[in-house]
Amino acid sequence: MAGKVLSVASECVPLIKTGGLADVVGALPGALADQGWEMRVMLPAYRKLRGHLSQMVEVWRDDHLFGGVARLFAGRVEGLDLLLLDAPHLYDRDGGPYNSSWGDFPDNPQRFAALSWVAAVVARDGVAGWKPEILHAHDWQAGFAPAYLRYFGARGVKSVMTIHNIAFQGWAPAALMGELRLPGEAFHSDALEYYGNLSSLKAGLVTADWITTVSPTYAEELMRPAFGMGLQGVIEARKANVSGILNGVDLDLWDPEATETPYAAANMSGKLRARAALCAEFGIDPPGPLAIVVSRLTDQKGIDLLPQVIPDFVELGGGLAVLGTGDPALEQAMQRLAGQFPGRVAVRLGYDEGLSHRMFAGGDAVLVPSRFEPCGLTQMYGLRFGTLPVVAATGGLADTVIGLSPATQAAGVATGVVFHPTDALAFSQALAKLAALYADPKAWAQVQRAAMRHPVGWEPSAAAYAALYGRLLA
Ligand code: ADP
Ligand code: GLC
Repeated sequence: MAGKVLSVASECVPLIKTGGLADVVGALPGALADQGWEMRVMLPAYRKLRGHLSQMVEVWRDDHLFGGVARLFAGRVEGLDLLLLDAPHLYDRDGGPYNSSWGDFPDNPQRFAALSWVAAVVARDGVAGWKPEILHAHDWQAGFAPAYLRYFGARGVKSVMTIHNIAFQGWAPAALMGELRLPGEAFHSDALEYYGNLSSLKAGLVTADWITTVSPTYAEELMRPAFGMGLQGVIEARKANVSGILNGVDLDLWDPEATETPYAAANMSGKLRARAALCAEFGIDPPGPLAIVVSRLTDQKGIDLLPQVIPDFVELGGGLAVLGTGDPALEQAMQRLAGQFPGRVAVRLGYDEGLSHRMFAGGDAVLVPSRFEPCGLTQMYGLRFGTLPVVAATGGLADTVIGLSPATQAAGVATGVVFHPTDALAFSQALAKLAALYADPKAWAQVQRAAMRHPVGWEPSAAAYAALYGRLLA
């Protein structure tokens, strides 16, 4: 083994997921194992994960971790080497990882500082004979981990802070410094202070040995105000230690040959059957391209543009199937759109992994009109499934899709439709391009083949992480 890595996060497929963070955290250990690195993942033992504890071994304990007893359990769960932090006063409750139906948990700063604290202790001291060389922290939930390491002695352990989404910054009142065991002298603008408060993400960004984000384009964008969301200066100041490493797709979990109607680029008849089944499931039957959206319904994702562009797309023969949950106003907008175009537009509100797979198999195109997108995974699932991505030219979307143009089409390299800027006019024009392409089956098939050929696996990215870890330890 080249070395050991402790990966700290709040989500991990297949155990707990609200978005792409979970896919990535769950896929990295396998991808890095292929590069010779041993990675363990540390997660909170949320209520729905506590069932696993009986198969695990207690390896560490603190009777007073932010107001209660905390015990760390180690073991192999669902093929992953896992460390679960059981602290019932923080994690044993109803709801998702961050909120219940009442809203965000008010003690989120303590909940994720606790996770970060224990991660730093394990990184520094090791646990049950296992000591990592690298601590890899994901997003604001793990942002204090590199900070604790930095302030309490890293003993040679190097840290990496990965930004999956800078819109979430882990703000906490400054008054919590002491309670969160952060040293008072670190409360200044070059360290943990952020507009008079604390930000756990900023803490990670200023204290980690290296910063990564999930695409090269987002790494550039983050240094600009519109994308950096207040942290652009912090990132710019560290730009010699920032890199963008694209996410990959777990090729076994997302495999057109492993669907109910298996298909591959050489024989697409299974995809046609999947399309028919999907149309039946959603009760729609467009003569033109069947577009899908599988997404959190939020402003980031540009979902509010759909009601503006879909009427024209329907006019061109298109149809739309949406799966998502999120902002109630956007959920209602999606339902209104479906009501407006029965037989053409249908919506399922909720979270459904199985249905999402059937949609990528059966859809003709996947729409990702994001205003910003650190990486984005659904456009890559689209490539893999020959479900042509229609994406805004931002972040990882710009890095993964080759937009249709006369030149790219002539060269046979176009893999989807890319538009800019993220507004209704450009999006609408992109959908018109898609419909025109669909009307030309030979041209459509060529783009589909190029999409399915496009490599979206983890290997190059895992190699980039491995190289980074190696450089940090050299
Ligand atoms: P983000 O993490 O910003 O939400 P990504 O594109 O990186 O965006 O990842 C989203 C992940 O969540 C993908 O795996 C996608 O398929 C999945 N997903 C989003 N919404 C749903 C849903 N309603 N049901 C099932 N899967 C969903
Ligand atoms: C975030 C981003 C998304 C990215 C995912 C995994 O949720 O919004 O673009 O793909 O993290 O890195």
